[in-house]
Amino acid sequence: MSETDKSGVVRISKQGPPSVLEYTSEMVGNPGINQVLIRHKAIALNFVDVLFRNGSFPLNQFPATIGVEASGVVEAVGAGANEWAVGDRVGYYFALGAYAEKRLINKDLLIKLPQDISFDQAASLMAKGLTARMLVKQAYPVQPGDIILVHAAAGGVGSLVSKWAKSLGATVIGTVGNATKKALAEGQGTDFVIALDAEDIADRVNSITNGSGVDAVFDGVGKATFSKSAPLVKQNGTIVLYGNASGSPQIDSDYLASKEIKLIQPSLGQFLPDRHSLDAAVAELFEAFRNGVLGEIEPTIYPLSEVSKAHQDLEASRTTGSVVLHP
Ligand SMILES: NC(=O)c1ccc[n+]([C@@H]2O[C@H](COP(=O)([O-])OP(=O)(O)OC[C@H]3O[C@@H](n4cnc5c(N)ncnc54)[C@H](OP(=O)(O)O)[C@@H]3O)[C@@H](O)[C@H]2O)c1
Repeated sequence: MSETDKSGVVRISKQGPPSVLEYTSEMVGNPGINQVLIRHKAIALNFVDVLFRNGSFPLNQFPATIGVEASGVVEAVGAGANEWAVGDRVGYYFALGAYAEKRLINKDLLIKLPQDISFDQAASLMAKGLTARMLVKQAYPVQPGDIILVHAAAGGVGSLVSKWAKSLGATVIGTVGNATKKALAEGQGTDFVIALDAEDIADRVNSITNGSGVDAVFDGVGKATFSKSAPLVKQNGTIVLYGNASGSPQIDSDYLASKEIKLIQPSLGQFLPDRHSLDAAVAELFEAFRNGVLGEIEPTIYPLSEVSKAHQDLEASRTTGSVVLHP
């Protein structure tokens, strides 16, 4: 092994605040059986990274490398992984250990990237776009004429949900946490944008829907939004609670039952149980991107060595759209 086998890597020796993220370097070995060595080109920042870092999700051993999604180029192929070749452009969307310049990974987790999808686009779209697709096509299949409410509509998943739902014929009301994000969410699939720090969400939604309420809510924020939007859902409507960026909400089941509101709490993994469903979903995602359904994808970029700053910004609601780390 030589110095060229060294990889920049972000390690944590315990879970905690962003300062636990430490940029260092390590030797990366050769790929073992069924493994591939990848040189990352773009690493995604996802909200789940915060949960792995701060202790909301458990980690089994330390030091640990978090990050779950990246794109890059195959540099070496181990025995049994012959379907991959050196130089292949690949990505993956859920495998811990992504905050690194290079990594070893099981061959079965890889997605082959089409030539027309850039590394930044892939890292911006795989987890967030597959989640958006699952939300609007499977968890609550959006119908033409639906009025839907999307929280964190300027965020990674939220902006893609808004755009995809709009393309399916819905009227989209997006919310943003503060008025400075309003312009960013406007026109990104949204018909109306509500700034939660400056406007009364009930007044706005009632005026937009003539008091009839929305067909469905897509909520990845949780505690800060759930109880505000539940009363704005129609009788028999649906709340899709897919994340808790602000913490877990109090759920008043009696209230939901009284209005026959369906509460769905989906996870992406449930909807991608095997290779076949993953390949079909990825093909549909990239096709939707090519067809303009998801608009331009221009992620905010941080150097991997500044991942701690990226975490601070994500947790302080300062980021918009997708965020990508460059090794
Ligand atoms: N169910 C699944 O399978 C699945 C898959 C992927 C992601 N998710 C979830 O989807 C959600 C969005 O993920 P993302 O990576 O795209 O993140 P993101 O939406 O880009 O960032 C989170 C956004 O949530 C809002 N927010 C409100 N209160 C917050 C708080 N206390 N701390 C941080 N953010 C707060 C902020 O938007 P405003 O400023 O506009 O309020 C912030 O920009 C997360 O909850 C994530 O866990 C779920």
